[in-house]
Amino acid sequence: MKPSIITFRNVTKNYTLSRELGGGLKNFLFRLPRSVKEIRASGYCALKDVSFEVRSGETLGIIGRNGAGKSTLLGLVAGVLHPSAGEVEVNGKVTPLLELGGGFHPDLTGMDNIMLNGVLLGLNRKDVARKMEEIIKFAGLGDYIGQPIRTYSGGMLARLGFSVAAHLDPEILLVDEVLAVGDADFRKKCLDKIMGFKRAGVTIVFISHSMEDVIRICDRVIWIEERGVKMAGDAASVTGAYLGGG
Ligand SMILES: Nc1ncnc2c1ncn2[C@@H]1O[C@H](COP(=O)(O)OP(=O)(O)O)[C@@H](O)[C@H]1O
Ligand SMILES: [Mg+2]
Repeated sequence: MKPSIITFRNVTKNYTLSRELGGGLKNFLFRLPRSVKEIRASGYCALKDVSFEVRSGETLGIIGRNGAGKSTLLGLVAGVLHPSAGEVEVNGKVTPLLELGGGFHPDLTGMDNIMLNGVLLGLNRKDVARKMEEIIKFAGLGDYIGQPIRTYSGGMLARLGFSVAAHLDPEILLVDEVLAVGDADFRKKCLDKIMGFKRAGVTIVFISHSMEDVIRICDRVIWIEERGVKMAGDAASVTGAYLGGG
């Protein structure tokens, strides 16, 4: 069997939450010491005791309702979040395509953001410069590539983000609902690119609400519900159960 490249061992993730602010900021500040203690105590549990493995070259889909904990799980793989309990082990270079615009700076142009993102994702400036033309062409944003990205729509941001990641030779590719906002042409281009990565043996973790895309891309699927793994198995069975209401 191929080696395990991502391993979650009994992973729990709590977010600290300020319920006290419901009583208003003034009230919160007035009772500050007690409020702080309450916040520390009132962590919101997003994932509880989650265990799974992804093997090298495998394509894993993550499905589940909004708020189920999918992005949290991906953030833990990407290393931008840390588990509150349990262990996350990742053996390889992670290229995350997280939710819209993560890692982008709104006041920089599309082109500058390609450079910024490329460097953040582990390339040196020369590598990014060499790939710049190809990335710009793939993104297909026309003259907007020279505009600050605060003028971009969600779909345009997704184009930019995907184009950068697609030219990085990823080892482990994480995709968080990036395709949802693109138009039909760009979606097709992205899906082709992802299928190309799959054939090349890239390990992929793919979050989507499109069961059609999940079935097309993923070997195995994990359904997250109520903080845990509700079901894991081959793509057809898990998406079938999910659509059938469980
Ligand atoms: N930074 C945060 N602070 C507090 N709660 C959060 C934070 N990020 C996510 N959550 C909560 O954790 C739960 C899981 O969120 P998320 O992983 O984004 O779900 P999904 O991607 O499946 O929609 C949600 O209830 C969400 O409100
Ligand atoms: Mg999410």
